[in-house]
Amino acid sequence: MTSDTLLELPQGSLKLQRMPLRSSDSLRAWDSADQLLLAQLQDLGPVSNILVVNDHFGALGTGLAYAHQGVKLTVWSDSYLAQQALQHNCRSNQLPEVHFIDAVATPQGPFDLVIMRVPKSHSLLQDQISRLLPQLTPTARVIMPIMVKYLDNSLYELLTRLLGPLTSSRAVKKARLLSAAPTQITSQAPMPVINSWQYGDLTLSHYSGVYGRKRLDEGSQFLLQNWPRGDYKNIVDLGCGNGILSLQAARSWPYAAITGVDESYMAVSSAAYNAKQNGVAKSCQFQVGNCLTELADKSADLILCNPPFHQQRVVGDQLAMAMFADASRVLDKHGELWVVGNRHLGYHAKLKRWFKHIEQQGKHPKFVVLRCRK
Ligand SMILES: C[S@@+](CC[C@H](N)C(=O)[O-])C[C@H]1O[C@@H](n2cnc3c(N)ncnc32)[C@H](O)[C@@H]1O
Repeated sequence: MTSDTLLELPQGSLKLQRMPLRSSDSLRAWDSADQLLLAQLQDLGPVSNILVVNDHFGALGTGLAYAHQGVKLTVWSDSYLAQQALQHNCRSNQLPEVHFIDAVATPQGPFDLVIMRVPKSHSLLQDQISRLLPQLTPTARVIMPIMVKYLDNSLYELLTRLLGPLTSSRAVKKARLLSAAPTQITSQAPMPVINSWQYGDLTLSHYSGVYGRKRLDEGSQFLLQNWPRGDYKNIVDLGCGNGILSLQAARSWPYAAITGVDESYMAVSSAAYNAKQNGVAKSCQFQVGNCLTELADKSADLILCNPPFHQQRVVGDQLAMAMFADASRVLDKHGELWVVGNRHLGYHAKLKRWFKHIEQQGKHPKFVVLRCRK
């Protein structure tokens, strides 16, 4: 075990790993904001029902399960990888499984303590807080471990508007704990927020945390303009988001079976909703997963992919590389992977590890569309 997986706490040490598991991964499953919160658990006082929101890689859920055995604990997140990490880390530390609720559902309180990692998306933040408030006891506290670099004035103002006055701990290793004791607790329990926009005659609806929630992503648009031309039967939309590529594929190849996969519960629910409201639900199915782990070898003849360029808030191409590796396994002998990405990410060179033939389609100053064959 290395120092990269061992988190030392006043109560003992925990083994924590990120998901997906990678032997070469030196990235820790916690940051100093998680660590600051976990180091102060003894100061939290008596609590009976804790909700952890947006835990990144299970550090908070596992740490709380370890320190507060016997207390009711629920983790609420939109991320399948976060869920997997939580389960894996609880198992590695011989702790019982923690109750997990995905972000489309609303956890049922009353909770007397909420520990919340503030998500990057302000719309997800507002949606989660508005659904949370009716689930709190009158004396509940909301504690937000946060890295100082993400705490700008607009976020501070938004949190104050949503939760009331905030207090802040001193900064330790560039992290702080923000605390609130919300008083505006309503009894109303709103549904998750859904917004819509049009792309041509397609209506795209989105839950609050989904990528491309306000307009079509420029990269996806470029891929739609440089669209595959073969006769495909088994199509995969890898990292499907709102399902835009699946919907277009269902129109281009009405007899094909289309599978969309995403690690976001809100994305998969939005994509399924969009397939239904645009009349292509029969040919599309959507599932939550990590890349294509659940798909059989050589089972697809076309994979469409607009890969993510960050995991949680950390920018990097690890997830894109995992997607390309999976795509090469899942494609049949003559299958094609069509990828769109920012030109500066250099996907062309990186894809050579798995694909012999890589052709650039169309021209764009910022993006490339690559057709890849084995
Ligand atoms: C750049 S967005 C593309 C969304 C959509 N296909 C589009 O073109 O608008 C990348 C998507 O990959 C998803 N994603 C991230 N990590 C993933 C993983 N490990 N497995 C599956 N999907 C993942 C994200 O949730 C996000 O929806």
